[in-house]
Amino acid sequence: MAETILKLDDVVVLRRTDPTGPFGLWGARPVRAVDGVSLSIARGETLGLMGGSGAGKTTLAEAATLRRPVDRGSVSVQGRDVRRLDRRQARRRLQMVRQDPRESLVMEQTVRAQLGHLIRIHNLPDGEARIRRALEQVGLPPAEFLERTPREMSGGQQQRLAIARALVLNPLLVALDEPVAGVDPQLQQELLRLLARVQQERGTAYLLISQDVRVISRLAHRIGVMHLGRLCEIGPAEQVLLEPRHPFSRRFLSREEGPLPPDEDTAGRVFSGCPWADHCPAAVEKCTKERPVAREIAPGHLAACHVL
Ligand SMILES: Nc1ncnc2c1ncn2[C@@H]1O[C@H](COP(=O)(O)OP(=O)(O)OP(=O)(O)O)[C@@H](O)[C@H]1O
Ligand SMILES: [Mg+2]
Repeated sequence: MAETILKLDDVVVLRRTDPTGPFGLWGARPVRAVDGVSLSIARGETLGLMGGSGAGKTTLAEAATLRRPVDRGSVSVQGRDVRRLDRRQARRRLQMVRQDPRESLVMEQTVRAQLGHLIRIHNLPDGEARIRRALEQVGLPPAEFLERTPREMSGGQQQRLAIARALVLNPLLVALDEPVAGVDPQLQQELLRLLARVQQERGTAYLLISQDVRVISRLAHRIGVMHLGRLCEIGPAEQVLLEPRHPFSRRFLSREEGPLPPDEDTAGRVFSGCPWADHCPAAVEKCTKERPVAREIAPGHLAACHVL
């Protein structure tokens, strides 16, 4: 078994909306954007994360990479609780590439300056060599790109640079939030190949968020499905894709007929039972009352459902 790189135990992340916003005080109530999620990711493994808009995927990735505080539960890296680790060092090892590369890039600063700055704040040796290696790995020839600014680059090149920015710090894990959404199919294939190659060469673990089954099935070894903050199912990729077991995953992955409810917002809602119970054809009374705990339904395949 490969070493466990990241482990989340019963993680809850609350998000508060602005009390002066359209929902007033109601909107100010904390939302359980992530509601008791446990999972682990091994060295060199890709865990795919799927689920509708507002399910909590980005929030989970932010909490997992220490970009957002956890309100309950724990995050551990290589078996050590992050609360006992130096936060800056732990964050260096857990990187995140956001859906919009511009969020993590300094648009007016040269590639050399911004990657060099990162390396300096983390006191890493061999700055220049690291920068060149990361650029080469993402297919941006250093001679051509070191002195360019992101503003002088195409969208695809910016996306590559955002990946290089994560890799330059030699992370154990990278959370990739929709890394190829909105890019043309050919570039998509190139980026996916690149990510697979980096993983092979460096043993980097990925938490890959995507709504696109083709993207997920290309890279993910295991897949988790989220619904309204909960992880309803997690298991080997082909099992979850071909034979999802949780009633929500079955609907979401179109194994079962029926409409998906519109993208939901958990604002103000607290579920004592299963959040899918109201829509679930298999629901029994217990489903609205008691929280289903994740149980192993096949080796390495877990689902949080009372009726399975
Ligand atoms: N800026 C915010 N302020 C307050 N609450 C928020 C904010 N953004 C999201 N939330 C809450 O957190 C929940 C989870 O949001 P999150 O962005 O993590 O979902 P997601 O699965 O990444 O969705 P998407 O697929 O649209 O990116 C939302 O349903 C919403 O209730
Ligand atoms: Mg998101």
